[in-house]
Amino acid sequence: MAIFEVDNLSLHYLTRFGKKIHAVTGVTFNMEKGEILGIAGESGCGKSTLVNGLMGLFIPPLYPTSGDVRVNGESLMNRTPNDIRQNVLSRKVSMIPQGAFNALNPTRKVKDIAADVMAAHLKNVDKKEIYDRLVERFDLFGMDTKKVLNSFPIQLTAGERQRSVIGISTLLNPQMVIADEPTSALDVTTQKVVIRLIFDLLEKGIFSTMIFITHELPLLRHVADNIGIMYAGEFVEYGTTDQIVFDPRHPYTKALMGAMLSAEPGQKQKKPTAIEGAPPNLANPIFGCRFADRCPVAKEDCKKSEQEIRMVAGRQVRCQYAE
Ligand SMILES: Nc1ncnc2c1ncn2[C@@H]1O[C@H](COP(=O)(O)OP(=O)(O)O)[C@@H](O)[C@H]1O
Ligand SMILES: [Mg+2]
Repeated sequence: MAIFEVDNLSLHYLTRFGKKIHAVTGVTFNMEKGEILGIAGESGCGKSTLVNGLMGLFIPPLYPTSGDVRVNGESLMNRTPNDIRQNVLSRKVSMIPQGAFNALNPTRKVKDIAADVMAAHLKNVDKKEIYDRLVERFDLFGMDTKKVLNSFPIQLTAGERQRSVIGISTLLNPQMVIADEPTSALDVTTQKVVIRLIFDLLEKGIFSTMIFITHELPLLRHVADNIGIMYAGEFVEYGTTDQIVFDPRHPYTKALMGAMLSAEPGQKQKKPTAIEGAPPNLANPIFGCRFADRCPVAKEDCKKSEQEIRMVAGRQVRCQYAE
């Protein structure tokens, strides 16, 4: 049975001037316990917006437009942020954010930040119990636990900060974790440490199901079971990692994959070839295929009608020429 179900989810921002920005449109997928779903797409395509929607966390100017998200069959829509914080976050769904610095209050020590987070998520918090739990958990992380817990964020290295954030967000053993570009602000060495830490926690069974979000598709090749490719707020392709990596059918997926496949074994990986042009502005209405303006194989009729997502070669794809 699916533990996480997302049905036709659409989300928008309402700007101060009353304009709607349709940041996420018609996203659908299910996840089984133990599954790792990768989501990839360029910056600005709606990944972080989707994350908030997946947690049911709607804080203005973000609003649900339509659709549903269910955890263990229970809907997360139409609930207050407080209800979501107390009954869903940290235990059912937890997020590892992009920048550890923004996630950590600079005026509090790490142990107090953890206590604050737990206070928001639990009705009765025993500070001593939280501290003992933190020590036990942080001891798994290869850091000087006492030093880290008693430091302010500024006194820590970027890697220690990100590990602290991961430690706090997984402290209550959430059923599933959503990691939103968890390593994008780190140097390559620290990136590896943080990725290993996340997968260590998975192996230890601290959580079992994960959505891993990145702007680099190749990163998902060795870790994801399924992959969703986002473009301009939509899933343009969704399938198994093998389908997406070795037999991509959407021209945008092919473009994202191109750089990796062109690297010869033993040769230094080529820099990803940037895709010409920019994604469409989501504040304006878009007709037809959203990728058509940048697509190397677009035809006259691609912009004439909405591209519905459909099954081609065993995966879902939003391109009328996917065959
Ligand atoms: N608070 C906000 N108000 C209005 N528009 C926003 C806000 N946050 C993000 N957006 C817009 O929503 C779109 C998707 O952004 P985001 O979800 O951050 O993308 P990603 O995480 O893929 O980089 C972008 O066009 C962005 O400008
Ligand atoms: Mg983002």
